[in-house]
Amino acid sequence: MVENKWINALNVRYPIIQAPMAGGITTTELICEAANNGCLGMIAAGYLTPEALAAQIDEVKEGTTQPFGVNVFVPSAFRTSQKEIDHTLQQLEPIYQQLKVENREVIIPDYQQLFAVYNEHIETIIQKDVKICSFTFGLPASDIIQRLKKENIILIATATTVKEAIAAEKAGMDAVVVQGSEAGGHRGHFMDSVEESSIGLMSLLPQVVDQVSIPVIAAGGIMDGRGLAAALCLGAEAVQMGTAFLTCVESGAPAIHKEAIMSAGEDEVILTKSFSGKWARGISNTFTQEMKKYQDNLPSFPVQNALTQPMRKAASQMNNKEYMSLWSGQSPRLTKNTKVKTLIELTIQEAGEVVSNIND
Ligand SMILES: Cc1cc2nc3c(=O)[nH]c(=O)nc-3n(C[C@H](O)[C@H](O)[C@H](O)COP(=O)(O)O)c2cc1C
Repeated sequence: MVENKWINALNVRYPIIQAPMAGGITTTELICEAANNGCLGMIAAGYLTPEALAAQIDEVKEGTTQPFGVNVFVPSAFRTSQKEIDHTLQQLEPIYQQLKVENREVIIPDYQQLFAVYNEHIETIIQKDVKICSFTFGLPASDIIQRLKKENIILIATATTVKEAIAAEKAGMDAVVVQGSEAGGHRGHFMDSVEESSIGLMSLLPQVVDQVSIPVIAAGGIMDGRGLAAALCLGAEAVQMGTAFLTCVESGAPAIHKEAIMSAGEDEVILTKSFSGKWARGISNTFTQEMKKYQDNLPSFPVQNALTQPMRKAASQMNNKEYMSLWSGQSPRLTKNTKVKTLIELTIQEAGEVVSNIND
């Protein structure tokens, strides 16, 4: 494989980062298997309480001596009103009735609280001596960057455009994940609209590489050795793979979610705001179709996320994939339901073959 100074400096064998996937997908077992088999394992702090994050860090430390990191959501201000909430609940009411959801208790998030949790996540990362911290949905404020840098923590931003990657470098980030439009889950854009920030990785990656001097990590649609080799050829130092790990045996995604991805075609994977109020990529289902007409007037993230939470929970308990968020990148046909170790071994072996074919 290609000699890779940055990834060597992290003490990781392979240039692969297991994507942090909030919502219970990146279990401790998955993270430890990724780390123990040569990748950088990542904890997803996004929806965790600070206590749950601290507990998972302890568990991961018990399961591996290899490097791992924590990913946090950078909160941004949002507005909502009781009128907007009532209006959306009315739109959701027929679905709640159909699914016979009894417990519809919704806790409307408060920005101050979200910000307090974010600060506690940062403190937990420092206290627990985590060496790598990545961010999505924005860049951390300069006081947080300074605080983490003082502790020698390696900082990784997420960017969806050249402009965002340059801003990440200027802010002092040590590396940047470049998220192509293929990527599963929420879009990490934080400067421009989703249309302006949804660029295919093949175009975006080399343009970012030409414009920044920090290491670039490629994300979006990378499922195997072909994707890894292609990303390295385009100038990435490493890749971040999400959907490929999501369908692995050790992932916490419900079986019905894994099956939905494994039986989907690339043309069934869409961008939707319906579940959370933030654009995200997943498999089209009845809910995303029914909500299309409301899409332009939904409450922002994380308010819409809170309003659909009882529905998603009930649908998951009933194994009803039509009302679950089936996050997936655009390469569902390339997924396998293997163990993490096998996924990594196959990816590295295949990338090696692809590269040696180029040399022949
Ligand atoms: C289910 C799911 C949850 C995700 N959650 C996070 C997250 O918490 N933080 C983050 O930075 N990225 C998150 N991502 C995005 C990944 O970091 C990455 O950009 C994406 O998975 C790459 O595309 P791929 O899924 O085609 O590999 C998530 C992706 C998925 C599929």
